[in-house]
Amino acid sequence: MSKLIETIDLVTNFYTHEGVVKALDKVSLCVDHGCTFGLVGESGCGKSVTVRSMMRIIQEPGKIDGGKVLFYPGNNGSETAIDLLQQSEATMKALRGDKISMIFQEPNSALNPIMSIGEQVAESFLFHRKKEMSQQILMDMDASISKANPLKSILKALYRLAATRPEALILKLFSKTPLLKSWENRLHKEAMRRAVEIIAKLSIPHAQDIARRYPHNLSGGMKQRIVIAIALACNPLLLIADEATSNLDVTIQAQILDLLKDLKQKVISSVLLITHDLGIVAETCDRVGVMYAGNLCEVADVKDLFSEPRHPYTRALLNAVPRFAHEGELESIEGNVPNLVNPPSGCRFHPRCRDAKSICKDAFPESTKVGNNHQVACFLYTEKSREKS
Ligand SMILES: Nc1ncnc2c1ncn2[C@@H]1O[C@H](COP(=O)(O)OP(=O)(O)OP(=O)(O)O)[C@@H](O)[C@H]1O
Ligand code: SF4
Ligand SMILES: [Mg+2]
Repeated sequence: MSKLIETIDLVTNFYTHEGVVKALDKVSLCVDHGCTFGLVGESGCGKSVTVRSMMRIIQEPGKIDGGKVLFYPGNNGSETAIDLLQQSEATMKALRGDKISMIFQEPNSALNPIMSIGEQVAESFLFHRKKEMSQQILMDMDASISKANPLKSILKALYRLAATRPEALILKLFSKTPLLKSWENRLHKEAMRRAVEIIAKLSIPHAQDIARRYPHNLSGGMKQRIVIAIALACNPLLLIADEATSNLDVTIQAQILDLLKDLKQKVISSVLLITHDLGIVAETCDRVGVMYAGNLCEVADVKDLFSEPRHPYTRALLNAVPRFAHEGELESIEGNVPNLVNPPSGCRFHPRCRDAKSICKDAFPESTKVGNNHQVACFLYTEKSREKS
């Protein structure tokens, strides 16, 4: 499989009054085209900061202090990547919601309470697909306008200008006239048509009626579907879902996950899924990354991670869940995620690790290959690989 997006040694800090929160310490992960990648770890481990850094939506007092976020939009593997951390804010705005979309836990914060659902979905098309919609409207006009009608031909020339050079001076002169108002109306109508189409695609019944409603008229599950519709409007290459189902009751959660699985095959290329629920990971993901205190400690294909977890933290996480614990090993992880203003030296997991050795306090374990597509950052494995060589 070819890479879609990867972080290399990503470092993000928060400069607070209490000190510098070292939230991400050289996080390197890769999501391939077509892959559903799950990111797991206890609360405060850095999952959200990782994806927000990838999208460049970290706000003050946070700052991305190092690393790269390489994006490979073509899926032939040979295309050169662009480093998202080096792009202008304008480029990022164009990418967000188009090539990469993100949905969060709380649909209410993503939806505008005073705009109809249809308008909100349509906004995405008006922002990212104006050119494409303009071309389509002009083509439709070509089919319907008789060449012999000079008035309509002038109108079409004006529309063509509006589609290709919206900043042209002559359009400013006409901006308040019904002529250009009718162009805006046509664009708006096309965006609304597409909005209803995508709402219906998400198996939402009575899409036309739903498009006319406002967020407060919809249930939590329905609102999250609309958020997904907005995120998927432009067929993104990557959908990032940060705890997108954790506020919903179990039945609705299962419906939304089924929907994502279905859409993943039809519409989206890859999904980066953040969840606390290892059951969801086992059922939906191809690969899994386990984070602890700002580090990625293990990455593997989902089957390998659940059958042969290597990192002591991954093992502890699995042993805390009855469905995944090895027989007789069900237990919670002692201690807490450390304060990242003063994280433990060496391996950040060492104060809680039963296998810790003296080196673990002094040095940072680099990521080591322990199997096919299986990487672990732990001295238990670096030493073994050294012994072998
Ligand atoms: N705005 C902020 N100011 C200061 N520290 C922050 C800020 N946002 C995040 N952090 C810190 O960054 C670290 C990682 O937080 P993050 O939100 O990524 O955790 P998470 O793994 O997503 O947790 P959860 O599962 O609870 O959502 C935490 O130590 C958190 O306190
Ligand atoms: S590096 Fe050491 S402390 Fe860290 S997980 Fe491995 S054994 Fe435990
Ligand atoms: Mg989070």
